Amino acid sequence: MHVSNLILPLLTLSVTTTAVSALHITPQHKKALAAQKISEPAKREGVLAAAHKNKVKRLVKKKKRQSCQVRYNATSIVTSSTAEETASTTSIVGDDASAIPTLTNNENWANATATQTSSSVYETASTTADDWGFSSASSSSSPQPSSTTSAETSQSTSSWSKVEEWSGNSFFDNVNFWEWNDPTHGTVDFLGASDAWNSGLISINSNKRAVMAVDTTQVVSGGRKSIRIHGNRVFTGGLVLMDAYHMPDGCGTWPAWWQNGPNWPEGGEIDILEGVNAFTQNQVSLHTGQGCTMPSDLNSNQVGSLTTGSYNSYDCSSTNTANQGCGVRDETTQNAYGSGFNSIGGGVYAMRWSKAGIAVWFFPRSNIPSDITNDSPDPSSWGKAMANFPSDNCDPYQFFYDHYNIFDTTLCGDWAGADGVWNYAGYAGQDQSCAAKTGYSTCADYVLNSGSSFADAYWEVSYVKYFNSTTEV
Ligand SMILES: *[C@@H]1O[C@H](CO)[C@@H](O)[C@H](O)[C@H]1NC(C)=O
Ligand SMILES: *[C@@H]1O[C@H](CO)[C@@H](O)[C@H](O)[C@H]1NC(C)=O
Ligand SMILES: *[C@@H]1O[C@H](CO)[C@@H](O)[C@H](O)[C@H]1NC(C)=O
Repeated sequence: MHVSNLILPLLTLSVTTTAVSALHITPQHKKALAAQKISEPAKREGVLAAAHKNKVKRLVKKKKRQSCQVRYNATSIVTSSTAEETASTTSIVGDDASAIPTLTNNENWANATATQTSSSVYETASTTADDWGFSSASSSSSPQPSSTTSAETSQSTSSWSKVEEWSGNSFFDNVNFWEWNDPTHGTVDFLGASDAWNSGLISINSNKRAVMAVDTTQVVSGGRKSIRIHGNRVFTGGLVLMDAYHMPDGCGTWPAWWQNGPNWPEGGEIDILEGVNAFTQNQVSLHTGQGCTMPSDLNSNQVGSLTTGSYNSYDCSSTNTANQGCGVRDETTQNAYGSGFNSIGGGVYAMRWSKAGIAVWFFPRSNIPSDITNDSPDPSSWGKAMANFPSDNCDPYQFFYDHYNIFDTTLCGDWAGADGVWNYAGYAGQDQSCAAKTGYSTCADYVLNSGSSFADAYWEVSYVKYFNSTTEV
């Protein structure tokens, strides 16, 4: 419908115009690209994969977990357990923005236990969390972490109290694993929890940091194994800190640490740390329903700059801008992304979602404020944010709600793998094109045949911490 119609001309542009145009369109419209209908080969591949896995029930219920990039044709969701073949087919191919199903139970959107009983449509599901879809990395059936539920350290001026922490051995207890096709069409094979552990792609290292890696087998077919995790709790408002020592980097990679709400784009999307290939600059983006706009003086109150696209950059609405949204790229801060980030042992990203609006800061390892290390964060002392989206014309609780946190490393796909991006140089801090750097003319060929190149494509995360406030939120 309207979204798709707007998107299609852009898709055409992105593959037929010069690299410059395509590049400037593609990052802006990466989510739009993801919203396009799956191609015929992809459909067939998806259907075959589904038949092979024989996880029809998961696929039917996959609708429940649609992210911004995943739309399912609600009318194709089959309610009868006898129609498994149809269900597996239509729920995969029904990737059309015209029929985004309405989820009435947003609070339980990321909660397997609750969703189990929230809709009669899903009554054919078995009662285990695994069959419901997501697999849990821990043997515990509780979606809640067993510890770290309150802030023990709070004597500073911070008005924020810790409400959740993912760290150490329990890091993966707080997440679910996405083990279906990549909604952004990457050359990846996302693993479920047990496969992720067994293959060694996730681990807790000797420094008690969570590692999420990419398979380095030299030659693979179909897709390279990787990880995508979703937090199992939803939040509305709050302050989230993420401390990483390393992030995926290099040609072919498209890593992101981000948040998403239900009924996309109505529940909003906040991309906190994201980029592709050998970029060295981070881009923070908002994608919203209609009505959220940014003031004309936006750039004077942030370190980064609003990217310019084919549509009004100040309008964050996905519908009005063919999913361009409001993107802020930071060309100034050193070592905030990719190889630079890794060279300094990373640092802390912070995202504050409060009455004042949504803002993102980055602190390199050597310059992490003591209020952060003391678990008593005080954003008012942090100085100018990398990206600072004020609430003036964008109510942060109208346009954003019920978000869960996501880490993923996809490879190629709609952004990293787009021809114009793969072949382009001189953008977001990347001087040489990946085609030139790798000698491969396509991203997918490189990813499938050059596993050793992906040794650096891993996240090494010390913690994710959520804080809440009775005065700021
Ligand atoms: C949704 O799926 C149904 C059943 O497969 C199909 O008849 C209908 O055309 C689809 N709608 C759209 C908009 O794709
Ligand atoms: C999940 O849903 C159950 C049942 O409604 C509820 O008791 C539990 O607190 C929820 N867990 C989370 C993490 O929201
Ligand atoms: C903060 O508290 C509000 C109100 O209880 C809740 O809706 C929100 O999800 C909380 N956010 C976090 C990060 O805990």
